[in-house]
Amino acid sequence: MIRIGIVGGRGLSTMRGFLSRPDVCEVTAICDLDEEVMERPKERFGYDVPHKFRVYEDMLAADIDAVVIATPMQNHVQQAIEALHAGKHVMCEVTAGVTMDELWWLKEAVEESGKIYFFAENYCYIPQNQVIRNMVRDGLFGEIYFGEGEYTHNVVSYATYGKGVTGKDTWRRWWQLGKRGCFYPTHSLGPVAQWFGDDHVKSVACFSSGQHVAALEGIYRLDDTTETLCQMESGKLIKLRVDCLSRRPHCMHYYSLQGTQGCYEAPRGMGDDHKVWFASPEHPRDGEWRPLSDFYDQYLPDRYRKASEEQKNSGHWGGDYFIVEDFLNAVLTGQQPELNVYRACEWTAVGLLSELSVTNGGRVIEMPKFRPDTPLSEQITKLW
Ligand SMILES: NC(=O)c1ccc[n+]([C@@H]2O[C@H](COP(=O)([O-])OP(=O)(O)OC[C@H]3O[C@@H](n4cnc5c(N)ncnc54)[C@H](O)[C@@H]3O)[C@@H](O)[C@H]2O)c1
Repeated sequence: MIRIGIVGGRGLSTMRGFLSRPDVCEVTAICDLDEEVMERPKERFGYDVPHKFRVYEDMLAADIDAVVIATPMQNHVQQAIEALHAGKHVMCEVTAGVTMDELWWLKEAVEESGKIYFFAENYCYIPQNQVIRNMVRDGLFGEIYFGEGEYTHNVVSYATYGKGVTGKDTWRRWWQLGKRGCFYPTHSLGPVAQWFGDDHVKSVACFSSGQHVAALEGIYRLDDTTETLCQMESGKLIKLRVDCLSRRPHCMHYYSLQGTQGCYEAPRGMGDDHKVWFASPEHPRDGEWRPLSDFYDQYLPDRYRKASEEQKNSGHWGGDYFIVEDFLNAVLTGQQPELNVYRACEWTAVGLLSELSVTNGGRVIEMPKFRPDTPLSEQITKLW
């Protein structure tokens, strides 16, 4: 029986997944500075978590095997390392950390501990992203060479507790709106990077539109919108738009993909649908858009098709359920998951390097290799 402890309210998104596997796990502990948060499982799921802690270290000292870390971003690495040192497996919210040094500490701590580190990038689990991944695998798009991810989500209202800028600042005021560059890259990058298989980000360049609406909001350092280009080791390209200030409808999961034989575009609203286009064999420049749903029967993973309504409704289009299942499998088998510490560090570093790039006129920054055997001499940030 895997005994789970959850720290931070957002971690409750995993509850439904854990509660649906009473054969292998039990949520035995919860920790939050806010006592009201610890009462939520009872209200939402009819399950009162037996052990409640306000101090994280007290929870780590309790009888648990794994922690779900869902506190603000700047706590992730410290809390993950403490958990690994205490012999616990870790499932951690995005992003993995807030400085490059932290990422190296995290990688080392996971390697030394031998414990599971699971990066909870739930956008990889969006059903359509999984369908596209399987279609890429079967070569439907030919050789893929360009992908895009966009996260447009105005988070200004999350920057203060209560209404208006006179409320007390939340962590987002500093660690999101107080940053330059693409501070939150993993939702946009993760699924697209998975389509590119074993490829890795080789270098990053970030440009911004400056401060227009940011200037109207007055107090933030973040630019209105950022475009980050990831040159892959293969020479292929991924483009990310992350925009948390612009006044516009949210669109947190727009993706596109281009291959030699076809392309994919996610919807951006107004009744648009997920759609794919394939070049006709006779006339490669001709083809018709088709709804992606034409391909669900063949390419939606089995477990999504068989999912109960409850699982599908577990949040982020069912992703919050399947991610838990994969975490449990990793712990049960002792195998590091696909969303392992190396991916967590590389995807997170895209954002951290973008900050350096955007403040240096879009200068190209080399991605260090977050791999098991990277020597200390290469654990550095190089400008091109
Ligand atoms: N994957 C997703 O889709 C998704 C969605 C939202 C947020 N997130 C991530 O989840 C994390 C939390 O975001 P949020 O919006 O829930 O933040 P939040 O500020 O709403 O909640 C953070 C919670 O953590 C608690 N907390 C903070 N420090 C603590 C500590 N030291 N010990 C115990 N509890 C502590 C707070 O009391 C609060 O309940 C962030 O890393 C964010 O990036 C991910």
